[in-house]
Amino acid sequence: MFPINRMRRLRDKESTRRLMSETKLTTDDLVYPLFVENRSERLEIPSMDGVYRYPIEDAVDVGKEVEDLGIPAVILFGVPEKKDRSGSSAWKKNGVVQKTLRKLRDETNLTLISDVCLCEYTDHGHCGVIKNETVDNDETLKLLSKTAVSHAESGADIVAPSGMMDGMVTTIRDGLDKNGFNSTAILSYSAKYASSFYGPFRDAAESTPSFGDRRGYQMAVTQKKEAVRENNLDVLEGADMLMVKPAMPYLDIIKTTSDQFDLPLAAYQVSGEYNMLREAVKNNTMSDKVIEESLLSIKRAGADIIITYFAKEIAKKLKKTD
Ligand code: PBG
Repeated sequence: MFPINRMRRLRDKESTRRLMSETKLTTDDLVYPLFVENRSERLEIPSMDGVYRYPIEDAVDVGKEVEDLGIPAVILFGVPEKKDRSGSSAWKKNGVVQKTLRKLRDETNLTLISDVCLCEYTDHGHCGVIKNETVDNDETLKLLSKTAVSHAESGADIVAPSGMMDGMVTTIRDGLDKNGFNSTAILSYSAKYASSFYGPFRDAAESTPSFGDRRGYQMAVTQKKEAVRENNLDVLEGADMLMVKPAMPYLDIIKTTSDQFDLPLAAYQVSGEYNMLREAVKNNTMSDKVIEESLLSIKRAGADIIITYFAKEIAKKLKKTD
């Protein structure tokens, strides 16, 4: 007790503070999300300053930049030319994600992660096929499996199903294995909440549901034990990695998941989290240090990997302080 114990002794010098540091954020922890589309110019996303929808060639250039910054991975989202009821552009051999994967595989050594969901590809914006005004789980599974296989064929190292369909991991695992892709990993969006923090992403991916919402398949924001069940089931189904999404408003879930499961854990700092911090920094309401602080909080809670639109920016900063 005081005066014997003085916490400030170890806080006195910058070098001592560094020595005492319990949590480290490195570029190796980061994944950069990339939106790709078949178009000639990059397109600004008004609600996500600094984030774009890229033509394929530009996406490959950004991939190279990401690699040069020391970030190990990108996660790809596609905006197709044509949307239809079942989202059939999602599994096209020459779909925008498939084409980008092939180029990135040939021109970089990045770990290529692909988001596997139908919401960007369906004309109604839901994450699967609609029957009786609801998403038909088991019909959707077949389409997710086809999509994952087509991504693996094009070079995805990790497929990341994000639709919160029951059985998606086991169905995709089965599809991949039957088609010779037993070394393609699955990063399941295992604990994904029906969050309003996805608003800006839906502008970016044009994936706002045209009717209803996603509460019939994504988890209610009130749930905690249910997240444990979701994670458990995905482990049993063969997921290689788990994910909690969003990140900062769900640090408790990240903590519980990292305490209870020994799989690598990703956290997705989503578009709304990005927007809040980006705008606050832009308006000079807060210093840009809040960005690193937000990522450290996610790491401290137990995430091993952070998917963030700030990845490039933070990597540049980390490089400087190395
Ligand atoms: C697709 C998907 C979404 C996000 C990632 N994959 C949107 C959603 O579920 O509505 C959100 C990412 C973000 O907000 O940054 N299912």
